[in-house]
Amino acid sequence: KKRVFSGVQPTGQMHIGNYVGALSLWVENQKKYDNIFCIVDLHALTIPESIEPQYLRKKVKQVAALYLACGIEPEQSTIFVQSHVPQHSELTWLLNCVTPIGWLERMTQFKSKSKKLESVGTGLFDYPVLMASDILLYKTDLVPVGEDQKQHIEITRDIAQRFNHLYGEVLKVPEELIRKSGARIMSFDDPEAKMSKSTGENKKRHAIGLLDSPETIRETIMSATTDSNRETRFDYASPGILNMLTLYQVLTGQSRAEIESHFSDGKYGKLKKELVEVVIETLKPIQKKYNRIINEETYLDDVLKEGEEKATEIAVDTMDNVKKSMGLK
Ligand code: TYM
Repeated sequence: KKRVFSGVQPTGQMHIGNYVGALSLWVENQKKYDNIFCIVDLHALTIPESIEPQYLRKKVKQVAALYLACGIEPEQSTIFVQSHVPQHSELTWLLNCVTPIGWLERMTQFKSKSKKLESVGTGLFDYPVLMASDILLYKTDLVPVGEDQKQHIEITRDIAQRFNHLYGEVLKVPEELIRKSGARIMSFDDPEAKMSKSTGENKKRHAIGLLDSPETIRETIMSATTDSNRETRFDYASPGILNMLTLYQVLTGQSRAEIESHFSDGKYGKLKKELVEVVIETLKPIQKKYNRIINEETYLDDVLKEGEEKATEIAVDTMDNVKKSMGLK
């Protein structure tokens, strides 16, 4: 079986974009692959909110419980917390030494995130190298992510190839797994802006959180930005309408043609109302399972402990090969 690795940062509020772009894709392919899913708490430290220890501790639990609630099964997949496996940090240093800073300066996420900060930490700059370490430690074949992570997978490939060129064929060069439709869900308040976990936590009507109540979901979708074109064909719709059509498509599994004919009267109110129902029905079982898991403290800890052990075994083996190839062993 091919190996899959992916992760979510425990910051902000996990939303329907994370579900559609990433988690639902993990669950869909779970049986086909050998999966490792990580809660990337070391990456979270690059974001100002996470400076509060209680916040970070709570978010790590929340994300782990959401993985399980969305359908990741510990029998099929390894689930663990990044900082519990110190090899991630260790490999990062070694890969730092083969990564030209020019490659990091080109990262669009670094440019946009650092612009908003008064003081930019070295960790934010080095973020892609830590992500490359996550992926390369586990000899990963496929990385299922949303569109916004594409550039980070490309640099991971570049780093692996450069390492192999310098030290021999040690690291497996991974590939991305990205949805054709639904890899970039936009926000409801501004369809030109990607739905974001941090904005969603602070601003109403931007995102649909995976734990939002039916009332909040209804309010958010009904207030979504539209236009006056009455155009519900995927290829001609404005960004806000296209976003809702796309969500409807991924969540119902219907074809474009079916959806276009169903909404052919061009009534946006109908699209919104039906999308509200689809989203509520999708999230209901997830929320039910989440509430059960989050209140059974030891179950979650046990899952993460077991995941840590399985992950460590692979990570230790890769580090051994990496160190030998570099002359550190
Ligand atoms: P993060 O935590 O920002 O997002 C988690 C996953 O959700 C996807 N995503 C979206 N998909 C569709 N529409 C959106 N609006 C949307 N917003 C987010 C992301 O693409 C991602 O798949 N750097 C990563 C975490 C990471 C990682 C890794 C991922 C660290 N190490 C190794 C894969 C492999 C991140 O910040 O994702």
